[in-house]
Amino acid sequence: MCGIFAISGTDDQAGQKVLAGLKKLEYRGYDSWGIALKYREKNEVIIKKEVGKISNIDQEFPPAQEAFGHSRWATHGGVTKENAHPHKFGKVTLVHNGIFENYLEEKKLFTEKFLSETDSEVIAALLDKNIAEICTQKQCIFPLLAGEGEGEVDQEFAKKIIFDAIVKTVEKIEGRFAILVFVDGVDGIFAARRGSPLILGRGKNETFIASDIPAFLKYTNVVNYLDDDEMVWVHQGEAVYQNMKSREIIQKRDIEVPWKEEQAEKGDFPHFMIKEIFEQKDTIARAINHDDEELLKAAKLLENCNGAYIVACGTAHKVAMVAEYYFARISGRKVNVVPASEMPDFERFINEKTAVIAISQSGETADVMEVLERSKKKSAKILALTNVESSSMARLADVHLAINAGPEKAVASTKAATSQMALAFLLAYADAEIRGISKINVGREILRSTAGIINDNLNPRYEEHIREIARKLFPEEKLFIIGRGTLYPMALEAAIKIQEVSYIPALAFAAGELKHGPIALIENGTPCIVLGSDLETISNATELKSRGARIIGVATKNDEVFDEWIRVADCDGAQAIASVIPVQILAYHLAIFRGLDPDMPRNLAKSVTVK
Ligand code: M6R
Repeated sequence: MCGIFAISGTDDQAGQKVLAGLKKLEYRGYDSWGIALKYREKNEVIIKKEVGKISNIDQEFPPAQEAFGHSRWATHGGVTKENAHPHKFGKVTLVHNGIFENYLEEKKLFTEKFLSETDSEVIAALLDKNIAEICTQKQCIFPLLAGEGEGEVDQEFAKKIIFDAIVKTVEKIEGRFAILVFVDGVDGIFAARRGSPLILGRGKNETFIASDIPAFLKYTNVVNYLDDDEMVWVHQGEAVYQNMKSREIIQKRDIEVPWKEEQAEKGDFPHFMIKEIFEQKDTIARAINHDDEELLKAAKLLENCNGAYIVACGTAHKVAMVAEYYFARISGRKVNVVPASEMPDFERFINEKTAVIAISQSGETADVMEVLERSKKKSAKILALTNVESSSMARLADVHLAINAGPEKAVASTKAATSQMALAFLLAYADAEIRGISKINVGREILRSTAGIINDNLNPRYEEHIREIARKLFPEEKLFIIGRGTLYPMALEAAIKIQEVSYIPALAFAAGELKHGPIALIENGTPCIVLGSDLETISNATELKSRGARIIGVATKNDEVFDEWIRVADCDGAQAIASVIPVQILAYHLAIFRGLDPDMPRNLAKSVTVK
């Protein structure tokens, strides 16, 4: 939620580079954007901000070696230019990703006028006040920092004061933050985080700081991860890290990430969503590329526990529901699946004998993260399945399994979801191996064959057939989806996909539940997507049809009850993985026919780092 990106370098292109990098982070929020740059004259910070998407912007910036920017998903305060970041308060210019929950309490202590309604401007105000106070306490001989008169700034001393002031400021913040800061007269960029991601890219004579790696992948794939309660000062190729609690200086290890720039680009595809759907030709095979030892280590967390929960949100939650079926069917284990936001009532059951499994593409989703943090405090065992390996969840977990899907940029999760399912399937087999019921290799073979089938089937002809169905469906005002077994959570997932990118109200039900109420909504011609062609589901489809519904079957075999049929290959126990892909394609084309941008649906952001 919100993308932030900074550069400190030696050429004069910082403004242009931040603009280009922010465009790559736009999936994190696209209500407004803004860039602050230090014009060559050190004391002058120039801010440019606008409402709307940054992808449409093409403009020149004055020469600057240091700049940062922000792409916003609004939380506090409407979508206005005033509320767009960066915010300048006194000597401080700041961008913020996160939520300052108690900002109103702090705001009322100021007599100064605030220009925005945001919580973030209050952080800038607090920091400015704290810098001035620390300068006064230290009888600072650097009047520029104290806000009085003219004078030279001792850069080393200034850095210490600003680190102190950041620590004092964040002590007041309840919530999550990643901030980037300029202070007038002081070289470099300051950054700090708790709960929201920040990663440094280490170039030759330049350093980048971003919410996500694609922002700087063009320049470097060597990164340092900033952890919670750490802050950093960067200037050109230099970076000084400090722990905000212990105040120790930290040495960071340079890590090379295996991502390539083109993985985070659209290539020949018109949108990331369809590119990522097609990438499922090989992401599923990559997801299961874990050796037995890793899988058994993860499954062992379940072995001695006397309760297992899977927590997740949105699409990842639907994956978790599928995983619940996998564990029941494959290893005979009962796991409890709870949307992370609904966990508080159940946390009384969490203790040192509980296993908590998080499923998340970003590994940053706030609701999930908070459950993990609270569970960790109770000494529960934590397993995280994430796509972003450097994510907070990956680092907090006792065991982390990467789903290896590569960067997912479209807001709608597609390839990450199928990779998560594949890995959960394999994990259930690892659990079954420990229990002496089955072998990991049995699961791996099913998934290998599923990956091969998906590779063969996912072709332009298949897409065209689904596109034709989308052409007939796009004017509809509502749509139903049903499925049973693992296809029930996939019906729920299909509904999310269709709703979020095409804005068509899509309602999903367990096939057998229809006649307990929802069937009352069926009218002549109401489109109903039926996942599966087993006898019971076909019987439910027939009930719908006899009330006038138009049936779109997504199934391994055709049936006379289907008005349209989208073929899905038979994938044994992994049917859910294969069945959701055609619905992803359908959702994409519904959005296109309705003239919408499927990569950036309204009101949404890729990673939801606020509660
Ligand atoms: O990054 P996460 O997997 O934790 O994200 C969870 C949800 O926010 C996410 O799946 C969301 O529902 C997607 N937009 C759905 O396509």
